[in-house]
Amino acid sequence: MRLDGKTVVVGVSGGIACYKACDVVRLLAAAGARVRVVMTAAAQRFVAPLTFQTLAGQPVATDTFDLTQESEIGHIRLADEADAIAIAPATANLIAKLATGIADDLLTTVLLAARAPLVLAPAMNVHMWEHPTVQENLARLVARGASIVGPESGWLACGYEGTGRLADPEDVVEEILRVLAPKDLAAQRVLVSAGPTQEPIDPVRYLSNRSSGKMGYAIARVARRRGAEVTLVSGPTALRPPPGVRTVSVTTAEEMARAVHAAFASASVVIMGAAVADYRPRRALDRKLKRTGRPLTLELEANADILRRLSTRKGRRLLVGFAAETNDLVSEARRKLADKRLDLIVGNDVTVPGAAFGGDTNVVHLIDADHHEEALPVLSKEEVAERILDWVAAHLPAAQRRSPLRRVR
Ligand code: CTP
Repeated sequence: MRLDGKTVVVGVSGGIACYKACDVVRLLAAAGARVRVVMTAAAQRFVAPLTFQTLAGQPVATDTFDLTQESEIGHIRLADEADAIAIAPATANLIAKLATGIADDLLTTVLLAARAPLVLAPAMNVHMWEHPTVQENLARLVARGASIVGPESGWLACGYEGTGRLADPEDVVEEILRVLAPKDLAAQRVLVSAGPTQEPIDPVRYLSNRSSGKMGYAIARVARRRGAEVTLVSGPTALRPPPGVRTVSVTTAEEMARAVHAAFASASVVIMGAAVADYRPRRALDRKLKRTGRPLTLELEANADILRRLSTRKGRRLLVGFAAETNDLVSEARRKLADKRLDLIVGNDVTVPGAAFGGDTNVVHLIDADHHEEALPVLSKEEVAERILDWVAAHLPAAQRRSPLRRVR
């Protein structure tokens, strides 16, 4: 999701995690948002306003009583213009002021005047985080609609090990995206599979494919943003599990089949993005296969087709499949759509520039069971995920059946 046309106010209160807030601002600006940074006096002791100003490309607000700032920025204008407000880091002190309505500097004044959705990313020492006052204050803010991201556990700058570390900047931005996204998939349970499977040959080798999992993870992330409850069944990937998504890690096609079938019963939408291995070695050896110098034949047996089996228990669910091809993309995708009795198939030719395995973009051809088709240009995998989910949202049982795709025959 791009943030073009959106104004995000980032409040920075004083803690060592201020340096990570720079990344939050950078990521928001890169997503197209107009980012207005408001810093407390303590925050300015950790990071200079110039750093944020440079990253945001916008003036930074620091002082309610600075005549130039107040006439040019204005604390009420800041509050009114915000589509979302994120506080990163949110210190125990800032949280307490917010919970009790104290407005004794620019940031707290803006927060009191604002009506935009609020995301808090707390960061503090573990004992402060666990203090009942902090927890009670947060509970009050949550009851008033604020969303909290993090803190994470790990090594803290104060020398302690425990919970209190600022959430990963990408997760803070994800939460901002979530509060801003339309909730057209609310109440849906979306099951997504992603990544490759690995089929063991012996304890050190396996058969697999080049899938990175990025497409499926993008679908899971975007579906959650749009209000769905998401289960992601993932083969081995190098990706971080998306926040707020129930992620089930599997290795083989058989494990994937079991995990997908288990989650299927409660799913209303199933999107099989995984590149499931069609074959596995008949026997996985207990010991390492030794080199003999002679040709070697591996005997393979077929894995079950998960999607085909799901289609026999489809009910009112929407079933979406993928077809990664190197030739005859459209005819192969149409064949698989009919063969597996899918509602939508997402075909892509992996030899086309912009659609290579592991990349951040994809070039897909969408075909649905009502003969609507659309060939999309090179898009980021997130944008492709948005388009697939636009189709899903338009085809939910309760939705008007107006496909966003064009009818071809
Ligand atoms: N799929 C599946 N189980 C399998 C293989 C594939 O559920 N054992 C799903 C994939 O997740 C994808 C769709 O089926 O959504 C099509 O996968 P693909 O590998 O392109 O199709 P196959 O039917 O295996 O055909 P091909 O001969 O082209 O590999």
